[in-house]
Amino acid sequence: MSHSSQPSQPQSTLSYDGLQAQDAARLAAFTEVVESRRSVRKFTDTPIPDDVLRDCLRLAMLAPNSSNLQPWEFYIINTPEKRAKANKICMNQNAARTANKLIAVVARTDTWREHAKQNIRKFPDGPAPKRVRTYYEKIVPLDFLRGPGGVVSLAKRGMTKAVRQLKGPVKTPYYTFDDIKNWATNNTALAAENLMLALRAHGFDSCPMGGFDEPALKRLLKLGKHHHVVMMIAAGERADNGIYHSQFRFDYDQFVKEI
Ligand SMILES: Cc1cc2nc3c(=O)[nH]c(=O)nc-3n(C[C@H](O)[C@H](O)[C@H](O)COP(=O)(O)O)c2cc1C
Repeated sequence: MSHSSQPSQPQSTLSYDGLQAQDAARLAAFTEVVESRRSVRKFTDTPIPDDVLRDCLRLAMLAPNSSNLQPWEFYIINTPEKRAKANKICMNQNAARTANKLIAVVARTDTWREHAKQNIRKFPDGPAPKRVRTYYEKIVPLDFLRGPGGVVSLAKRGMTKAVRQLKGPVKTPYYTFDDIKNWATNNTALAAENLMLALRAHGFDSCPMGGFDEPALKRLLKLGKHHHVVMMIAAGERADNGIYHSQFRFDYDQFVKEI
């Protein structure tokens, strides 16, 4: 079989029969956005308008996130001098060099406490009810606190084990810095995907990049130990030669397990 006769993407087997027109239109629009998103390695000089980028970041931050604690940050590297350094830190990849915008997507391991308070202060439907206050004032800190030398974590490990044995399943709390880093990274990666899909929906493109020197980037952006650069996102308008090959994925059954 010649290479070009392979399907370029996993094909949908879904039928639109029976869908209401509005549902069909929404599904078609979503499918088009997801299927047409590609990692683009060369961009044109066309700028992303400021209001478009702002809307994409707004949509990024509508990503689901644990307890609405929003542990993400986005650094748009605009200063030409910093941008030249950032390109180099991204190993001078074509995507970084040609991108109209280069964005560092950063997870924070230390904002949960202040964001818990903000969830109470900014509760949208009148004063935060008691259950909401209890959640953010007592349960969230218990989940995250580690204590000096990990003393709280040690106690949490013991307590969690005991309660599990006596009562059954307990949500696993965060015991270590890495647990919290994973938590912040998970949340932030969801926002990164929203950002890339939003760019596509606006007619622009992106390339997520893990190929960069994190310590150098953190120095450039003046970030500390509580900042973790989850990925760099190159963004701009897709150039004609911006995609290197057809999209493909392995078989559905390789990954989906029904149990
Ligand atoms: C976490 C992550 C890191 C990536 N790092 C790079 C990178 O450094 N350079 C690059 O050109 N592409 C990078 N990619 C893009 C992948 O190579 C790409 O998503 C994959 O080959 C599938 O292609 P598609 O995105 O066009 O579907 C990265 C993607 C992800 C999700």
